[in-house]
Amino acid sequence: MSKIVLLPEDLINKIAAGEVIERPASVIKELVENSLDAGASKITVELEESGKKRIRITDNGEGMSPEDAEKSILRHATSKISSVEDLFSIKTLGFRGEALASIAAVSKLSIITKQKEMLEGCSLKIVGGNILDKNIIGAEQGTSIEVQDIFFNTPARKKFLKTDAVELKHCLEVVTHYALANPNVAFKFTHDHNILLHSPALQDARSTIASIYGIQTAKELLEVNYSDKNVVVQGFISKPYHVRNDKNQQVLFVNGRWIKNSDITNAVYEGYHSTLFVNKHPVLVLHLQLNPETIDVNVHPQKQEIKIEQKEQVAAAVASAVREALQSNKLMPTVDVNTEQQITFGTPIPRKETTTAVKYPFEPSAQTVFAVEETAAGYGGQESASAVAEQYQSTELMQEKLPPLKLLGQVHKTYFLAETEGGLFYIDQHAAHERVMYESLLNQFLYSKVEVQKLLQGEVLDVSVAEKISLEEKKDELKALGFELEYFGGNTFAVKTIPLVYGKVKIKELLHDLLSMLENKKSILEKKEEILTRMACRAAVMAGDLVTIPQMERILQELSKTELPYTCPHGRPTLMKVTVDELEKKFRRK
Ligand SMILES: Nc1ncnc2c1ncn2[C@@H]1O[C@H](COP(=O)(O)OP(=O)(O)O)[C@@H](O)[C@H]1O
Ligand SMILES: [Mg+2]
Repeated sequence: MSKIVLLPEDLINKIAAGEVIERPASVIKELVENSLDAGASKITVELEESGKKRIRITDNGEGMSPEDAEKSILRHATSKISSVEDLFSIKTLGFRGEALASIAAVSKLSIITKQKEMLEGCSLKIVGGNILDKNIIGAEQGTSIEVQDIFFNTPARKKFLKTDAVELKHCLEVVTHYALANPNVAFKFTHDHNILLHSPALQDARSTIASIYGIQTAKELLEVNYSDKNVVVQGFISKPYHVRNDKNQQVLFVNGRWIKNSDITNAVYEGYHSTLFVNKHPVLVLHLQLNPETIDVNVHPQKQEIKIEQKEQVAAAVASAVREALQSNKLMPTVDVNTEQQITFGTPIPRKETTTAVKYPFEPSAQTVFAVEETAAGYGGQESASAVAEQYQSTELMQEKLPPLKLLGQVHKTYFLAETEGGLFYIDQHAAHERVMYESLLNQFLYSKVEVQKLLQGEVLDVSVAEKISLEEKKDELKALGFELEYFGGNTFAVKTIPLVYGKVKIKELLHDLLSMLENKKSILEKKEEILTRMACRAAVMAGDLVTIPQMERILQELSKTELPYTCPHGRPTLMKVTVDELEKKFRRK
């Protein structure tokens, strides 16, 4: 007896849907692509309950005839290709004719559409792939597609959906990426009737970026404009020192299609060469135009991966494009960094970071590293400690964990130099202060009393749409860390308080950092070491800061009271010793 059966159509559609439609965001992706393919200049995306309950996408594109509307939900039904040759020169975003069929198979779908030249439009209601109702109705030109109760008939799928906040972020990501790719199309995105994004149709791509990533980010971006015989590369990249801790603001488009491609991303980093710090990531919005015949977009049902025929040449072009943008910026800065610094205190000062990373690499050599703990123990004896204390009276550094020291001064604006019995101490001012700040913050946090200072002129924080959602969500957690924020309208928040440990701090950078760390984390407690380390790092004096002797004494006094004075919270040493013995050997006295 034969065991093999041909699967019924609705089951086939459900299986196919599994590949194309993973979550509400995939519905949005497919429907927005259809609207763009239909030539829309205005697209509205409305969600309820992060898309789990309802997704509605309305466009003013060319619309469909009643006959086509019915066909559109069939599998392999498309108006975009008709022959094998077409498959190898695809200019539209869709071509597989399976998105609407897939969506229809796993949701309750309704379509309203009208073509420009027609007087009337039509409406269709489809449940689980079956047309339940069709009508001729009056309608605006264009198409409106509503998807309700996604996965109502595939409970296994539904179970895999993440929390509302996570699903919403995925949806937002899709809309923002298509808005970035199509500055000439107006996008509006609402969630439970709140407007999350409104990017008007602009010819100016930088303004579109501003409406999505915030004005400040957009202002600082460098323009990329490059072409050779294989490829045109256009868009924006950040300056090497306006970088982020995550890759959330990196978008690539090839022929208008949002893609993910590590060869191209790697080429961008290559273009930055050594100007980027480790684990720092530039913002990038790059559009590549390639001959459609030299790419294959048909490698995955979601069409986000593509194969590029001349991969090496394209990568080389992208690296050159980035390099060129960075180089030409040196000659002709597009934004005057100095004026920016006056109006926004958050702008990092490149000099310092360069100083820290390049000029003063941390290279402990076997010769100079000294087991400090041993020393401390060695000085622990009452007798010798008091003897030494007398000798170095001037500093009154009677500490619990550090041996008595006599501060001599600051070296290279980076290290304190101090005499101690039997030698010299080099103290890394940043590492030492960081340890002090870390333990102080940790104690305050653990006892739920982070001391704060009110900002008299509440600083205004300009955020991206995604960050705005995180901020609303993490408001209480940030408050527990000492940051009180108040919604200020648009994409801005007023910063009301910051932790007391901060003197002059780049609040904006710090908050952006914290937000990216809090992203998708269940709670601050889970991540407190990482978060507090970052906060301490920002609060501490930097390499390159001038520090006076009394300030040094203060830092060292506090350091001596910490639990673990010999390393910074990242685990690097705070101090090292060169013994007299070592000096004598070097001078060949011994
Ligand atoms: N918003 C829309 N406006 C006009 N036509 C549309 C729209 N959405 C879908 N269609 C029509 O329905 C067809 C099927 O859509 P879809 O299943 O996404 O397949 P594909 O986009 O791969 O062709 C499209 O080829 C197009 O003709
Ligand atoms: Mg499509």
